[in-house]
Amino acid sequence: MSNTERTFIMIKPDGVHRGIVGEIIKRFEQKGFKLVAMKFMQASVAHLENHYADLSKKPFFAGLVKYMASGPVVAMVWEGLNAVKTGRVMLGETNPADSKPGTIRGDYAIHVGRNICHGSDAVESAQKEIALWFKPEELTSWEPAQNPWIYE
Ligand code: RTP
Ligand code: MG
Repeated sequence: MSNTERTFIMIKPDGVHRGIVGEIIKRFEQKGFKLVAMKFMQASVAHLENHYADLSKKPFFAGLVKYMASGPVVAMVWEGLNAVKTGRVMLGETNPADSKPGTIRGDYAIHVGRNICHGSDAVESAQKEIALWFKPEELTSWEPAQNPWIYE
């Protein structure tokens, strides 16, 4: 366990379309995780096929990639104790129908194919995904506790 564990969180095109980007970011901020990197971008089909490569044999793969490429996404890296596992808890289950109220998918989604937000499922996949979506120089290093209050 490490305070510097990082997870890759991505607001999917339906989350952007429905205007809940701020709500999702707010939950990670208020939970206490530290924002390390964020970008608003349209991902290419090839990039998304790479991101979801483990699922390439699944019958829903083509539809998944098409949906993910249908609009811009918000790609983010959040850091903190147990960021990967806690991030998944905050998301809820893959199928929103199984997600408890209080989770992101439980509160905002009803369909497995439109479940609003992605989160890495393990520390190893998080590292792979962060490297896929961000260049090393795009990952910031800052220590909020050591920064003086902005108006002092
Ligand atoms: P994600 O990677 O997006 O965070 O989702 P996850 O780990 O909860 O689920 P995963 O198994 O990685 O599946 C990736 C995305 O594929 C879509 N899916 N559709 N039709 C289906 O049965 C089905 N199963 C998965 C979902 O959008 C899921 O988030
Ligand atoms: Mg997954």
